[in-house]
Amino acid sequence: VPGLVNAALGREVLASSTCGRPATRVCDASDPRRAHPAGLLTSAGGPASPLCWRSDSLPRAPLNVTLTVPLGKAFELVFVSLRFCSAPPASAALLKSQDHGRSWVPLAFFSSHCGLDYGRAPAPTDGTAGPGPEALCFPAPQAQPDGGGLLAFSVQDGSPPGLDLDSSPVLQDWVTATDIRIVLTRPGLPGDARNSEVTVPYSYAAMDLQVGGRCKCNGHASRCLLDSQGHLVCDCRHSTEGPDCGRCKPFYCDRPWQRATARESHACLACSCNGHARRCRFNMELYRLSGRRSGGVCLNCRHNTAGRHCHYCREGFYRDPGRALNDRRACRACDCHPVGAAGKTCNQTTGQCPCKDGVTGLTCNRCAPGFQQSRSPVAPCVKIPVPGPTEESSPVVPEDCDSHCKPAHGSYRISLKKFCRKDYGRHLSSSSPGCPAGAPWPWPLCRAAARPAVPRELKQGP
Ligand SMILES: *[C@@H]1O[C@H](CO)[C@@H](O)[C@H](O)[C@H]1NC(C)=O
Ligand SMILES: *[C@@H]1O[C@H](CO)[C@@H](O)[C@H](O)[C@H]1NC(C)=O
Repeated sequence: VPGLVNAALGREVLASSTCGRPATRVCDASDPRRAHPAGLLTSAGGPASPLCWRSDSLPRAPLNVTLTVPLGKAFELVFVSLRFCSAPPASAALLKSQDHGRSWVPLAFFSSHCGLDYGRAPAPTDGTAGPGPEALCFPAPQAQPDGGGLLAFSVQDGSPPGLDLDSSPVLQDWVTATDIRIVLTRPGLPGDARNSEVTVPYSYAAMDLQVGGRCKCNGHASRCLLDSQGHLVCDCRHSTEGPDCGRCKPFYCDRPWQRATARESHACLACSCNGHARRCRFNMELYRLSGRRSGGVCLNCRHNTAGRHCHYCREGFYRDPGRALNDRRACRACDCHPVGAAGKTCNQTTGQCPCKDGVTGLTCNRCAPGFQQSRSPVAPCVKIPVPGPTEESSPVVPEDCDSHCKPAHGSYRISLKKFCRKDYGRHLSSSSPGCPAGAPWPWPLCRAAARPAVPRELKQGP
């Protein structure tokens, strides 16, 4: 957790009214001795500096003057204080923004007439009335003997005692602010401060605006630094990123981001993708199913891997048992033989391709013992015929081919669809149509079509 600092120190203050523009008898922006710019409120001089910011004279209502301090990033507030150089206001409001000034919510009010000014009861002296932090109305700052006064607010004053920042998201939200605004709504006049009718010209004067707080890093950084563009950002650890360490780094989404506590770092965890993916995403369903341990899903697994953790080989590949799972070549191509195998997907563990009948080998590239190579890609290996009278005839050419090879005169027609078996096409050669004289039977009218691929030669089995 970053240390406690004055987050307003050196920051620009936007005042709705500043004396000296245009110049008057007492205020002249161009004269250093008579200038009272808002920058004096947060300059490094501190209480030792005798110079004060001063508002323009306010002859009549509205008398409210607004001081706004953008802190540059989210801080966790501890206190806010403002020292007045003249009589402190009889009524003031302290507001905060969490979205760099787009919206504002009150943190506290200060008035001796809480009901009249803000429609609220004065703050109870023993903490808050409700269960959570709330904007209470405190007594207006007391005028001091030197004529000045101090407005001081401890952020704990608006929150019930016993709430712990580590364990209370409500309190974490309550103390978080990117900007602070003080609205001075009614001058306190020397003498009768209860008189709300201001009749004499009046101006507010103050110095040393302090916003005590810690740079908000959600427990994931111990300091804040200026980045290359001059923005204040947390020096994030625990694999978090963002100006407030408010999210996990891209690959670190195995479990949801969480604020760190005093006991637990709640670091973001990298997805386990075995070195095969650079991106992953979080899946709540899987996280719940895993007993809130792991919910990362790897995206775009490379090196032919697949699965939630890139721990499988994708279809058409199998695990090389000789290589580690995180090896780039852990998955090898099945390389199934285009003719001998019945598919392209092999067994993921063994690499065994699905072989057609009579075919063997890891990639189905050989005829099994007792089989010999045929010319058919459907049954590339056929049983070696047993010599004898019941020799099976080859099914490649239909029996009635012979009758079609006798054109009496001129041309003849055959139905290729009916005549040639599936996977076969009519053979066209220079001698077609017609049968060459004395062609040996079977005359190859029907030939294997060039499907499924140009068949590679099958080796004879062992
Ligand atoms: C400023 O003064 C006007 C007029 O009195 C009032 O309506 C307004 O609410 C005041 N602003 C704040 C922030 O108190
Ligand atoms: C892969 O081969 C192994 C070992 O022979 C076997 O146990 C497993 O069932 C096979 N897997 C598939 C999907 O066939």
